[in-house]
Amino acid sequence: MSPFQITRTLPEDATDAALRADVLDGLTSIPKTLPPKWFYDAHGSDLFERITALPEYYPTRAEREILKDRAGDIAAATGARTLVELGSGSSEKTRYLIDALTSLRGYVPVDVSESALVQAGQALVAERPDLDVHALIADFTGALALPDTPGPRLVAFLGGTIGNLLPAERATFLASVRALLSPGDALLLGTDLVKDERVLVRAYDDAAGVTAAFNKNVLAVINRELGADFEPEAFDHVALWNAEREWIEMRLRARTAQTVKVPALDLAVDFAAGEELRTEVSAKFREDGVRAELAAAGMELTHWWTDRERRFALSLAAAR
Ligand code: SAH
Ligand code: TRP
Repeated sequence: MSPFQITRTLPEDATDAALRADVLDGLTSIPKTLPPKWFYDAHGSDLFERITALPEYYPTRAEREILKDRAGDIAAATGARTLVELGSGSSEKTRYLIDALTSLRGYVPVDVSESALVQAGQALVAERPDLDVHALIADFTGALALPDTPGPRLVAFLGGTIGNLLPAERATFLASVRALLSPGDALLLGTDLVKDERVLVRAYDDAAGVTAAFNKNVLAVINRELGADFEPEAFDHVALWNAEREWIEMRLRARTAQTVKVPALDLAVDFAAGEELRTEVSAKFREDGVRAELAAAGMELTHWWTDRERRFALSLAAAR
């Protein structure tokens, strides 16, 4: 068997149909919204990698610190032979886990971004020819058909990406992750933590404008895929803290009144001057909340690790 396989479980045209449905739904809602998975075309994945290196964007460094310090504990607690990673992106921090898991035989990165999977998979196979890498192009919010690989299985969901799901979506998602776990398997979950509002807002509104470019990239995706005529310069990037919901909201604010045409949907969308389109939330968590959400999905929190500044947490959970 070749050490690197890639399987597309999203047919190209289903992606297209899902994009159309999401854009039609979001742009005709009040307020207008767009779902975050469409940020990540090849350019979006590159911009996200640049975000992870920004001085203001602490989550990647904080999570890397925990992984570096705790990979040995995670390996001892799980003994995983297969590592499944949801929303794996560059798989960069994952190296700490892969190196520490001495029984590891297979790695299954799952992402909607084919370019990210190919780059990460090829680099990994070159370094670790002994490892079976089976990448899946798939939407982790849908039903996942995982390859039949040896257990115990560790399912990792890093980067705080769970915070990009709304609470109801999170509950559904965690229940479907729970359904993937057999006795002895575990979930490793990365969550960003509630902290000083200024630190949070800066992480999503950096001085160099990379996050603004990332946020506006979703407009370029819609222009390319659906023939729309969004002018990214006609929108301002907005990041604000919603203290009641404890999440960062990313929005795009129309600078002037304008009409955007989306030919593939036979749609014309009016924006008032100052009208905002919500593109993403990034929820921040507390230990009790994570424990409760895991419990509601049939899992038990067994370990809680944070970085030294308690900015970010990694949770290990088992099926109950
Ligand atoms: N885990 C990496 C990347 C986080 S960015 C890190 O911690 O740095 C979020 C990743 O999830 C991106 O690679 C994006 O393409 C992927 N993603 C977002 N929504 C997704 C979905 N619904 N299904 C599968 N992958 C998704
Ligand atoms: N999972 C990342 C986070 O919530 C994704 C992210 C970082 C993001 N910066 C962003 C999403 C800016 C949209 C816009 O931190």
